[in-house]
Order: sequence, then C-alpha cells, then structure tokens
Amino acid sequence: MAGVVIVGAGQAAASLAAKLRISGYDAAITILGEEPIAPYQRPPLSKAYLLGQMPLERLLLRSPEFWAEQRIELRLGARVEAIDRAARAVRFGGETVPYDNLVLATGAAPRRLSASIGGELSGVHVVRNLANIDAIAPALQHDARLVVVGGGYIGLEAAAVARKLGLSVVLVEATPRILGRVASAETADAIRALHVAHGVSIIEGVGITRIAGQGSVHSVELADGRSLPADLVIVGIGVSPETGLAEAAGLAIDNGIAVDTRGRTSDPFIWAAGDCASFPYAGGRLRLESVGNAIDMAECVATNILDAGRAYVPKPWFWSDQYDMKLQIAGLSAGYDHIITRRAEGYSVWYFRGESLLAVDALNDARAYMVGKRLIESGRSPAAQAVADPATDLKALL
Ligand code: APR
Repeated sequence: MAGVVIVGAGQAAASLAAKLRISGYDAAITILGEEPIAPYQRPPLSKAYLLGQMPLERLLLRSPEFWAEQRIELRLGARVEAIDRAARAVRFGGETVPYDNLVLATGAAPRRLSASIGGELSGVHVVRNLANIDAIAPALQHDARLVVVGGGYIGLEAAAVARKLGLSVVLVEATPRILGRVASAETADAIRALHVAHGVSIIEGVGITRIAGQGSVHSVELADGRSLPADLVIVGIGVSPETGLAEAAGLAIDNGIAVDTRGRTSDPFIWAAGDCASFPYAGGRLRLESVGNAIDMAECVATNILDAGRAYVPKPWFWSDQYDMKLQIAGLSAGYDHIITRRAEGYSVWYFRGESLLAVDALNDARAYMVGKRLIESGRSPAAQAVADPATDLKALL
C-alpha cells in the first residue's frame, strides 16, 4: 500500500500523522515538508523565541525518536511541485511518491508589500517561519528603530518583543483601528493602551505609500506625508492560504482549499486540514488560522481517512501574549450585535448576538476564558447583567 502522504510539515501535518498511528493505521505515512526542519510550533516564533527566551529544541513538536518509533517518514527540504491525480502520486525534485490518500496541510503564507514600494529591501521582514525569525533576531538591537506595518496579532506581538528589547517602535495600521479583522473596539482599546503604556507609538487610519532605502530600508513613508526613520521593518499584514498546488491540480478552491464536512476536497482521495482549508460552516464556509483548528481538523481528517465519517465541528480558541498580558479568545465574534465588558479578576469582553453568547476575549482573566469557552461549546448563554457584575462568581454560570 502506498499509504498516506501529507504535504506540509506544520502543526496540522504532525497532528494528522500522529492521530493516524494512534488510531491503528498501519501502512506508510510520509510527510513532505519544504522547510529543512521537523514539525515545530509557530506561535512562540513571534513571542518567546523572538525574545530569545526559548531554544530551538523546545519549538519542536516531537522528538526525532517519536517519528522513527511511529514509522512516520519525514522528507524535509522537499517542495512538492505537482499532484498527479490520475496516477495518485505527487512529484518533487525529480521523484514521484505514490499515495492512497493525500492530505494537503500546506498552511498559509504571509502577505508581503510589493517590491515596487520597497517591500523587498533588505531589513524588511515578515513573521511566519523559523527562517523569518532567524533573520529578524540579529537586527533587534536595543537602539534600533523599528516600524511595524499592520496592527493584527503578529504586528502587536512583534512590537511587544521589540519594546522589551529596548527598540523604539512605531506601529502603522492602515484601517481606522488595530485588530479590526478579529476583535471589537473594546478589546482593541485595551490592547492599544497597553502598548502606549509600554512606549509604542501607534498610528491608525494611515496607509504607507513606500518603504524607502537604497538596498536596505531607511524610512517608511506614510500617506499623510510623514516619513518614519527605520532600521528595520516588520510587516504583519495578514496571510493567504497556500492553495497553489491544489489549484494547479484542479481542486475546488473557495477562500482556501474547499473541503466537505469531513475534510475531503473535490477529489475523493485528497483531503485538506489547517490554515489552508475552508470547510462548510453555518450555511457558508469558514477558514480558521489557528493552532487549535490545525490540531482538531487534522485529527478529524485522520479518523475520516479510517472511515469514521465524522463531521468537523470547530471549537475556536486563540491566544496572544504581549508584555505581561495574556489574551485568550474563545469562540468566533463575527456577527455580534452587542458587547458586555467585565472588570473583575482581569478584563473580559463578551460578544453577543441577541441573547446568544458568541465569543469571549479574556485579558489576564483565565476564569472568564474557561467559563466562556465552556458556555459557548455547550451552546449556553449567560444573562448579560450577570456577566457585567464583578460580584458574579463566573463558575456559578456553568
Ligand atoms: N499597511 C498597514 N496595515 C495594513 C496593510 C498595509 N498596507 N495591509 C493590511 N494591514 C493591516 C490590516 O488592516 C490588519 O489590521 O494589517 C493587519 C493584519 O492583521 P491580520 O489579518 O490579523 O494578520 P496578522 O496579524 O499578520 O496575522 C496573520 O498569523 O498568528 C497568526 O492569528 C494570526 O492568523 C493570523 C496570522
């Protein structure tokens, strides 16, 4: 048997391979990864690892022995060039690897600023993989001037690390406020205040026109005419799902590789999981960029390769660490119509549509996160007043 071939060697690939073996799959499992390193955790890259507080070994998801013992073959530095659906094989570097089932766990790629506006000057970085961070780390000198482009979690986490290392930091967000894609104004206000208190200068509602420099970056020019001197620039302007291989093979694409409720693509022998995949959700389609989704969806697909016939039901959760603030998010806030804020142990923002609780952002408030997550996952909603009242024991809401 040709077994299962997984394209991509990130969180989803690692979880899928492990789950297949634990579930008794006995044929070959091969992971083909473009990066030269065994599957590792990405979230610490923009946090502890960038800060220099986490050694490379601790980033690895599994020990080298694990892969050997589980007979999971890692082919690293292997960039898959094409899928031959008729032959049920993938091609890379002159080799052909056959599959019974193929899983695309190709992830997402950071969006970049175009070369025509200086996006490829030396000193301009993105934050996605280990090589990106290893390129940034030596430039994080305490007297350097950093401009961060983009006020999502990537940009904000990078700004926090840079301030801790003593750089001067200006963050530029093109839309009217930071975190517009993922969080409410209330959450954004709290996070903005935290950054300002740590000395980050945040400019919102102003785009950049160009990164100036000769060979390497010198300054960032803004649409309002300002010019910000910069020794380095970190660009965190979102990611795009890696759909190229799937597209070239003629698979259905819809904001990611389109899969059915079980994780199968439009080809019955090809599956997809993680950041690259969009799945049916609430009458439409959803693509989630998170570790939790990569793990849960990959495990669901593994059991479905073994014929479990399980529908994937996401239980979204996210987190971000900035300075000493731990932000934990449960649920999906999209579609909320009002918000309740709570100041008790920490600060939390509760998103409702009508009476229904959709999501909770908890800032230094593990209890609000835990209670909110359990309520959302069991489809229950607390009374708004009870949440707002700091005297309420949240656990009693369960
Ligand atoms: N100039 C300034 N800001 C911009 C520009 C631009 N040219 N283009 C986009 N932005 C802003 C967006 O308005 C948005 O607020 O950059 C921000 C990007 O935020 P996200 O889309 O959330 O993406 P990012 O922070 O890069 O994170 C990418 O990595 O860790 C994960 O959870 C994270 O899945 C997310 C991914």
